[in-house]
Amino acid sequence: MTKTNRVAVITGATSGIGEAIARVLAGEGYRVALLGRRLDRLSSLVNELQDRAIGIQADVTDRSSIVAAADRVRQELGGADVLVNNAGVMLTAPFGTEKRDEHRRMVETNLLGAMTATEVFLDQLRAKGGDLVNISSVAGRVAPAGFAAYSATKWGINGWSEALRVELQPDIRVMVIEPGAVATELSDHITDPESKKAAQEYRDHVAMPPQDIADVVAFALSRPKRVTLNEILVRPTVQAM
Ligand SMILES: NC(=O)c1ccc[n+]([C@@H]2O[C@H](COP(=O)([O-])OP(=O)(O)OC[C@H]3O[C@@H](n4cnc5c(N)ncnc54)[C@H](OP(=O)(O)O)[C@@H]3O)[C@@H](O)[C@H]2O)c1
Repeated sequence: MTKTNRVAVITGATSGIGEAIARVLAGEGYRVALLGRRLDRLSSLVNELQDRAIGIQADVTDRSSIVAAADRVRQELGGADVLVNNAGVMLTAPFGTEKRDEHRRMVETNLLGAMTATEVFLDQLRAKGGDLVNISSVAGRVAPAGFAAYSATKWGINGWSEALRVELQPDIRVMVIEPGAVATELSDHITDPESKKAAQEYRDHVAMPPQDIADVVAFALSRPKRVTLNEILVRPTVQAM
């Protein structure tokens, strides 16, 4: 495959799916801007990817940090061709008052964070005729007990993406990727003990490696500009729901 010289910005690039997307895209010639809050993780991935990557400490719930990141991407890489909205948290638990801060955190990170990064980088994407990749979830299509707030964020991503697709075409392609279970640290942050145990057991028995999702993202981006893979649901073969 011909190597690209495009620039991709990836939110939540410090672990899991975002980290895998960074590796795969860098391998295809992209220069990647890695965004996340954990500096040590950013530094080690930049060391690995060397001159293909810059690391920028940024929190998608803090708009000023995203604006600063966009300035750096413009100055150091000449602007973004691709934005991958990947940063997310999954704090599954029975719905109730006790978890209201976690509900809010998921909405602010998964949904509002993606909206913020997109509005901040939109000028750069327009200037380059770029691509927007939103990492949703199978939980944007099915909604088990305990997933109410998380599924709301992913359903939200899907609805927002669909309206954006219509609004931004044909200048910017909008792609939604909906992974099933992926082996990452996502479930490590769950605070409800039963939900955490269930999520981790599911991960250990069912999940696919994050590289499987990264390969799909790279494939979708590599399609000719006349084609958009608007919505891609990717489950491990053994996953039922
Ligand atoms: N794993 C799965 O089974 C699965 C399935 C479907 C969809 N997804 C989605 O895939 C995406 C990535 O998740 P993952 O599985 O790779 O989990 P992960 O390994 O926990 O990665 C989550 C990433 O999001 C970043 N992040 C969290 N809050 C952030 C914030 N406020 N600002 C900036 N970055 C933030 C984290 O970085 P820092 O902590 O360094 O900021 C980390 O890099 C999420 O949107 C998730 O909902 C995952």
